[in-house]
Amino acid sequence: MKPSVILYKALPDDLHKRLEEHFTVTQVKNLSQETVAQHAEAFASAEGLLGSSEKVDSALLEKMPKLRATSTISVGYDNFDVEALNARNVLLMHTPTALTETVADTLMALVLSTARRVVEVAERVKAGEWTKSIGPDWFGVDVHGKTLGIVGMGRIGLALAQRAHFGFNMPILYNARRQHKEAEERFNGRYCELDTLLQEADYVCLILPLTEETHHLIGKAKFEKMKKTAIFINAGRGPVVDEKALIEALQQGEIHAAGLDVFEQEPLPIDSPLLALPNVVALPHIGSATHETRYNMASTAVDNLIDALNGKVEKNCVNPQVK
Ligand code: DGY
Repeated sequence: MKPSVILYKALPDDLHKRLEEHFTVTQVKNLSQETVAQHAEAFASAEGLLGSSEKVDSALLEKMPKLRATSTISVGYDNFDVEALNARNVLLMHTPTALTETVADTLMALVLSTARRVVEVAERVKAGEWTKSIGPDWFGVDVHGKTLGIVGMGRIGLALAQRAHFGFNMPILYNARRQHKEAEERFNGRYCELDTLLQEADYVCLILPLTEETHHLIGKAKFEKMKKTAIFINAGRGPVVDEKALIEALQQGEIHAAGLDVFEQEPLPIDSPLLALPNVVALPHIGSATHETRYNMASTAVDNLIDALNGKVEKNCVNPQVK
């Protein structure tokens, strides 16, 4: 008999079929208490769980006593209570490599659109304000040749450094848990303390996972360290930034502009003060959201679940020790 799995995210047809070749699949719309109660038997017998963007905590795990592996269609796994998974010997698989280049493209798009005010001036054109040759009130600031500070030198940070170094001739500063030889040798990156990076960078790009250590890492004191001309970019996780402090920094001119793909609360509430600021580009967490990359992530996540339930955890496993 095939193992049973719960699928909580729609998959492209061919991937759904691949999943069904290996498992008996129950597809549910989310992991809410109501949904779990409605499909109680399927949850009780499931050995695998596949999806994204939903909390997987001990309350859910209690309803899934047979669970052996979870597979998330994402690189980030802050939605998972990893300690609770470890305590129950449940594997956690993720997609660390599938989205690297696409998220780096999103970061570069945020850098360019904030610097050159792309969204704001395009809106002004649509509003009929382009009635004569433009003056300085439409100008932006340069990107090429400016100093880029990258906070978090993982795969995505490295892909951003590559774009900035070769494409935009930007000197690169970076802060990370450890020095990164490749960033230094290939892209001339200079490791520095976070405060030094914040003081020296023209563009501060955050690409960090959300953990206990990174929660609100960037708050009031850190914004005060940045240049008044600094442009702040976040495409990692919203709660790494104290959003209230960010709003104040923007309102008080502590920093020049912000490009944001992630927020403390998602979707971003319509009454967020961020949306009233012309120098903010706010995106709906599109970091990896291209057709190609989302397909590749889903495909990797399906393969990850098949591997994990067959005891193969050499790649893409967060907690291989529980095997
Ligand atoms: C991830 O994979 O964690 C991304 O945030 C999704 O875009």
